[in-house]
Amino acid sequence: MMDPTDLTRRTMLTLGSVGAVGGALTLAGCTTDAPEGSSSPTASPSPTLTEEPQADPSAAPDAPPVGEDVAALADVPVGGSIDATINGQPALIAQPAAGQVVAFSAVCTHQQCVVAAAGSEFDCPCHGSKFDAATGDVINGPALAALSPIAVSVSGDRIVATA
Ligand code: FES
Repeated sequence: MMDPTDLTRRTMLTLGSVGAVGGALTLAGCTTDAPEGSSSPTASPSPTLTEEPQADPSAAPDAPPVGEDVAALADVPVGGSIDATINGQPALIAQPAAGQVVAFSAVCTHQQCVVAAAGSEFDCPCHGSKFDAATGDVINGPALAALSPIAVSVSGDRIVATA
């Protein structure tokens, strides 16, 4: 036999759940009855044009998405390299052969100093590691690992990051 107290508790719990749902529906109904748009015209009756142009540049991110234009192809000497910034991070771009462009993170794999472009090599100013500009591979340590590659491609006369 079921204890009548148990039944009462169960009934109350069930009713409580229904009540909660009903309450949620009531709240949703209230939100629908008072749309946000109805108060906006009264809050700002005469929007100024000077505020909108300011909002657009601030909305533009500093680190553009995939396809970021990172340099002019002509800026990177054939057989040489340049320092750059890709996705807001220090980077190195090299052109080992005409029209063939590669890029790497400039963060040294030894102790994270910023590596500098130096012709066909990349040099770390902190402890003297040297990297091959065409491959990012270590020429001399103390760094043991190659620089991280960054995907780039040539688009017309521009170099764009593709990842
Ligand atoms: Fe680059 Fe040490 S941080 S060689």
